[in-house]
Amino acid sequence: MVASGEKVRDKVVLAYSGGLDTSIAIRWLQQKYDLDVIAVGVNVGQPGDLQEAVDRALRIGAVQAYAFDATERFVEEYVGPSLKANALYMGTYPLATAIARPLIAKIMVDIARKEKAKYIAHGCTAKGNDQVRFDVSIAALAPEIGIIAPMREWVMTREDEIEYAKQNDVPITVKKECPYSTDENIWGRSCECGVLEDAMVEPPRDSFEWTVDPLEAPEEPSYVDIHFQKGLPVGLDGSKGMSLTEIVRKLNDLGGSHGYGRIDHIEDRLVGIKSRETYEAPAALLLIAAHKDLEKMVLTKDVLAFKRSVEQRYSELCYDGLWFSPLREALDAFIDQTQERVEGTVRVKLYKGSATIVGRASSRSLYDTGLATYAEGDLFDHRSAEGFIYVWGLPLRTVAKAQKKQ
Ligand code: ARG
Repeated sequence: MVASGEKVRDKVVLAYSGGLDTSIAIRWLQQKYDLDVIAVGVNVGQPGDLQEAVDRALRIGAVQAYAFDATERFVEEYVGPSLKANALYMGTYPLATAIARPLIAKIMVDIARKEKAKYIAHGCTAKGNDQVRFDVSIAALAPEIGIIAPMREWVMTREDEIEYAKQNDVPITVKKECPYSTDENIWGRSCECGVLEDAMVEPPRDSFEWTVDPLEAPEEPSYVDIHFQKGLPVGLDGSKGMSLTEIVRKLNDLGGSHGYGRIDHIEDRLVGIKSRETYEAPAALLLIAAHKDLEKMVLTKDVLAFKRSVEQRYSELCYDGLWFSPLREALDAFIDQTQERVEGTVRVKLYKGSATIVGRASSRSLYDTGLATYAEGDLFDHRSAEGFIYVWGLPLRTVAKAQKKQ
């Protein structure tokens, strides 16, 4: 019960990371919009103590705080489908940040509904992709909920933010400033800004955290067998029945220890800006490479070619914040249908920054040594080749004849 005369404030659910930006956002939302703030931290496999962060939100003045471990859910509902889709934005980036945003948005919406909150707030800036992903996902799931992006509204440098925290009694622990803007979850780590803004500067050592310098990787290669069923990995090195989360964690460690999984590229942001980004995603890159390889063995030529074009569109949808779109759902249905046959084992060799696929086997294989062999036991009908070539080349011979006449 609210005591008479006491004002009932509207509520806002804030996607809270525990960092400086979202910490001062708590106070700012109270002051600027006179809202009760419910802070929500979501773990998608990033390091750090989320419960501790969320407790800090309460000390700052949030009326409620939640910490969710959504790592398994992220892997099952977002990483799994992306892997089946071999999703790589611009053929390069495995979309770790991009596919985590819709899940975080969904969790925010669920809490906003439960708490009858009028607004959802997030700490994204005006120049990035993440604001679009949050805003569009929230709009797709709950168009009635208002969105506030404090960092799009205030104009504060990091120093201003620290000053604001002091002035407004926001308890923060200002860590040594990281020279980059990073984001991470179980599917990968991204890094931008600082010296990386000079596209010609080689990424410095301190921009990497998950992978060793390939020069310092072991002198001996490691081999790993990855077992797939219905398009998803189910085990490593003979042990089947592992969870995808467990497999991803293991391969991040293994790949990283061999210096594998680094990416450095120029990326087209949704807001029209080109940016230089680096990533570390050993498991994602390894699994996508292995999955693609197995698909080549079990899928027909036409399904493969068609699927590759679907994959590109799929990756763009993920990147562009359109996860909750009818097109993404329809593409998933197509992809799932193709994955029925994708089972088998792929053997990968990791060595000093590289991962090479060195073998594959499948009970659903379309690779037939009887047809492929140049040795004994050849089953291919050699005489048929001539007739086939006559028909195949017919259109070109017709064109050549017609041109000669002219
Ligand atoms: N460029 C990547 C993407 O748009 C990574 C973004 C990382 N976000 C961040 N706040 N640093 O998905």
